[in-house]
Amino acid sequence: MPGGGHKFDAAHRAYLDSEERRSYLDPPSILRSFHVRAGMHVADIGSGTGFFAIPAAEMVGPEGRVYAVDLSPEMLEDLRAKLERAEGGNLEALRSTEDRIPLPDASVDFAFLACVLHELAGAGTLLEARRILKPAGRLGIVDWKKEESGFGPPKAHRLDEDEAGAVLSDAGFEPTRTFEAGVYHYGIEARVRRR
Ligand SMILES: C[S@@+](CC[C@H](N)C(=O)[O-])C[C@H]1O[C@@H](n2cnc3c(N)ncnc32)[C@H](O)[C@@H]1O
Repeated sequence: MPGGGHKFDAAHRAYLDSEERRSYLDPPSILRSFHVRAGMHVADIGSGTGFFAIPAAEMVGPEGRVYAVDLSPEMLEDLRAKLERAEGGNLEALRSTEDRIPLPDASVDFAFLACVLHELAGAGTLLEARRILKPAGRLGIVDWKKEESGFGPPKAHRLDEDEAGAVLSDAGFEPTRTFEAGVYHYGIEARVRRR
């Protein structure tokens, strides 16, 4: 993996939910682009402090469910503190490892990784995403365009759309659509490849 498993430093996690970030990355519109809708079960893998998971929970509504999955205890602690103050009860924070997501096989309609693909240390997390997706489920990726932006991960750690597509393909996914997800990011939708 280009990022070599390099993780976002949890000491800077307040930035993830900042107005500055919201000015160039708009979670509700990106989630709408992936057709997230009422009643869906969603796994936000590498959820951080809930920048996408919280609006996703509003979109799936009371009949739906969002699992915010992360391997960082600090990220999950901040997210749980937000949940204590929130209404709803359809968002659950779960601790994962690089190779294990604590959800059953074929349990979610949509698995989502925002700014996480370039941090993966190997194929384990994507194989887990494939395992937990229902047969007709979809994978959504948002990640940094591979260019100098003056902030964000170093260019050498980023994957361009073709590299990202190859990583997905190696894990058994078939990319179906690539789109602009803001000035600095692209989106990729994929489904599980039929053998
Ligand atoms: C840059 S942050 C993005 C957080 C969130 N998706 C967002 O956009 O606000 C990357 C997050 O992915 C998590 N992460 C990295 N590799 C992971 C993996 N293999 N499984 C689960 N979480 C992972 C990190 O702990 C961190 O919280």
